[in-house]
Amino acid sequence: MAVQMSKGPDPRYSEGTAIVIGGSGGIGRAVCECLARDGSNVVLTYRRNKGRADETVAAIQAMGRKAEAASVSVEKADELKVFVDDVAKRFGSIHSVVYAAGPEIHMCSIRDLTPVQWAAAVNADVNGCFNLVWATLPYLKAAVGAFVAVIAASVERVPSKDILSASPKAAIEMLIRGVAKEEGRNGIRANCVGPGWVDAGLGKAVLENEFTPEQVERIRKSIPLRQFGQPEDIAEAVVFMLSSKAKFITGQTIAVDGGGQL
Ligand SMILES: NC(=O)c1ccc[n+]([C@@H]2O[C@H](COP(=O)([O-])OP(=O)(O)OC[C@H]3O[C@@H](n4cnc5c(N)ncnc54)[C@H](OP(=O)(O)O)[C@@H]3O)[C@@H](O)[C@H]2O)c1
Repeated sequence: MAVQMSKGPDPRYSEGTAIVIGGSGGIGRAVCECLARDGSNVVLTYRRNKGRADETVAAIQAMGRKAEAASVSVEKADELKVFVDDVAKRFGSIHSVVYAAGPEIHMCSIRDLTPVQWAAAVNADVNGCFNLVWATLPYLKAAVGAFVAVIAASVERVPSKDILSASPKAAIEMLIRGVAKEEGRNGIRANCVGPGWVDAGLGKAVLENEFTPEQVERIRKSIPLRQFGQPEDIAEAVVFMLSSKAKFITGQTIAVDGGGQL
């Protein structure tokens, strides 16, 4: 049998739109731009940072794709559903959904965490991602679509002082594997991408604000590839998982971390 080579825009993106939750973020913006490059319209969300969301919309439109931004809080399930229903109605279909949001968190030992901090992180991340799955699954089923959640490479090992990221992301990984298992019969694929340290967004903020330059250098040297990731490194893995090229991959996580979990 001849191997089918894909060229040009992904045929999956010829109609409808992708939704990128957290498209104003360091990683989310790169995901939006890679999706547009590969032929997709993009509806992206932000929570407060309208300026950055508008810049991302302009970058997508400059590539000739439709783009819109809306302020959405993933914790508010009913509002999220209204947003998703409206996007589906106006664009006709939703072929791809990316969860690239996440609360602002700080490095902290478990012994110093309070129940309030724990509940806030779980609510914004785990419940938020579930709300997104709940709101988008009927549309992904109709479009035979794909879901990718950006989690963290740190779900593989207990990270020092980073349990507020790793625990919610581990729960999200299992949720996504569950979606893959239950919805595979409907053609829906669901995967995760796990970034290591990225020199953008939340990772950059933590490196700059919570470590000394000497500590940052020690972290860099502990990574086998001796560098921090760039947002496009993560975005390329996300768009691969969404694309037709990954049509037989579901329920998996790709760590994009320079070997940091080895
Ligand atoms: N950067 C890294 O090194 C790294 C490493 C491992 C994992 N991750 C994970 O990758 C994901 C994206 O990271 P990032 O670096 O791109 O973070 P970021 O730059 O802080 O972006 C976070 C995005 O999520 C949105 N957001 C925050 N809380 C929200 C809420 N409650 N409801 C809806 N949207 C919300 C933000 O909106 P506003 O812009 O309006 O605030 C922004 O668009 C996060 O889950 C993060 O934990 C990042």
